[in-house]
Amino acid sequence: MASTIQLLCFSSLLFFSLSHAQPSFRPHALVIPVSKDASTLQYVTRINQRTPLVPVSLVVHLGGRFLWVDCDNNYVSSSYRPVRCRSAQCSLAGANGCGDCFSTPRPGCNNNTCGVSPDNPITRTATGGELAEDVASVNSTNGFNPGQLATVSRFIFSCAPTFLLEGLASGVAGMAGLGRTRIALPSQFASAFSFHRKFAICLSSSTRFDGVIFFGDGPYVLLPNIDASQSLIYTPLFINPVSTASAFTQGEPEGNGGTKISTVNPYTVLESSIYSAFTEAFISEAAARNITRVASVAPFGACFSSRSIFGTRVGPAVPYIDLVLQNESVVWTITGSNSMVEVNDDVLCLGFVNGGSNPRTSIVIGGYQLENNLLQFDLAASRLGFSSTLLGRQTTCSNFNFTSSP
Ligand SMILES: *[C@@H]1O[C@H](CO)[C@@H](O)[C@H](O)[C@H]1NC(C)=O
Ligand SMILES: *[C@@H]1O[C@H](CO)[C@@H](O)[C@H](O)[C@H]1NC(C)=O
Ligand SMILES: *[C@@H]1O[C@H](CO)[C@@H](O)[C@H](O)[C@H]1NC(C)=O
Ligand SMILES: *[C@@H]1O[C@H](CO)[C@@H](O)[C@H](O)[C@H]1NC(C)=O
Ligand SMILES: *[C@@H]1O[C@H](CO)[C@@H](O)[C@H](O)[C@H]1NC(C)=O
Repeated sequence: MASTIQLLCFSSLLFFSLSHAQPSFRPHALVIPVSKDASTLQYVTRINQRTPLVPVSLVVHLGGRFLWVDCDNNYVSSSYRPVRCRSAQCSLAGANGCGDCFSTPRPGCNNNTCGVSPDNPITRTATGGELAEDVASVNSTNGFNPGQLATVSRFIFSCAPTFLLEGLASGVAGMAGLGRTRIALPSQFASAFSFHRKFAICLSSSTRFDGVIFFGDGPYVLLPNIDASQSLIYTPLFINPVSTASAFTQGEPEGNGGTKISTVNPYTVLESSIYSAFTEAFISEAAARNITRVASVAPFGACFSSRSIFGTRVGPAVPYIDLVLQNESVVWTITGSNSMVEVNDDVLCLGFVNGGSNPRTSIVIGGYQLENNLLQFDLAASRLGFSSTLLGRQTTCSNFNFTSSP
């Protein structure tokens, strides 16, 4: 494939450690399903929580700092414990204040607890929430199938009021933060079971078939028996100094500029000068291939007649987009499957949007560009592994075999 468009990025991310009582069953990895919500385009996962255990649906937030759930509605659990202020769990959460609640005691409302600030990045709302612990349980995995349930008896999370769910997919009870804090899901699971502080996401492009998130190391096997972890290319992740330096972060960078990966943006958002240069380059490469431009369909600015574009295994035959990471030999290739959005039967649009002239982050790589790509975040080694599209390797992110082994 001759013509490619390049987008330059650099990389960074973080680490940490945490210790907890050791459970008797020690899985090497865990697995949870992720579905794509058709109306919001959010990615929704499920874990089991509380006593008795109930499945809880949560919007995946790659940069989120912890798990938060609505405790005001249907939170029933005999194992709920508020986290007492000035306890080790409060410091782990970076929660310094002590709070009281002037109402009837219930989950989310207790005296002498420490509080955090659960937030909803969709509505850009944050509020106060009681830090708490309860049982959380997800399936272990050998990399091929789900195995027996692995339980963390005192999983730290935050309660939130019901209004924080506004704008989230229907049926969800909160958000699953996969960020780099010590109480985000990856670190709590890694420390509870003493496995590597790594996790991998593989988002499905379909709203009917589940993608998958793995906590811990590979193999990450997708049907027909393809270990997607073998397809990873790694790029080091640097800590983002609060400066103008370009940096690749999972979730929110501290400084302005830079690049981040976000599961709560449906499409990649580019700062307007980058957006213009990039779409112009794409339009001219497309024209050189006799691809016919048609009127734009919001929120996209570059749309084409689908009749002028052939289909291939890796999506519509359009110029490839190369995200050049660490250096020119570490390249994440975005093929038509992840660049072109079918807005109707006749029109395909370049699935990137203009973020205006002064966004906090210059490049936010969104969900559509991540689908059917395996991304592994190695928090201990500070590196990101990425596969580029798995479609070229005859599999997809919805090919994990969720049937338990007998
Ligand atoms: C917290 O303490 C205050 C003062 O003692 C009391 O009025 C209130 O009911 C208590 N709240 C809870 C949730 O126990
Ligand atoms: C998770 O483990 C439980 C208990 O072993 C099992 O019943 C359930 O089917 C597993 N879940 C999946 C999705 O396989
Ligand atoms: C584009 O169309 C022109 C005129 O029909 C033709 O000569 C040229 O070979 C085509 N280019 C490609 C890349 O298909
Ligand atoms: C590019 O970066 C990779 C990963 O750090 C490194 O292994 C490789 O030597 C670098 N190549 C060049 C040409 O600098
Ligand atoms: C999925 O895993 C189950 C349990 O190991 C196995 O019986 C089944 O054949 C697998 N499905 C496919 C399509 O390979």
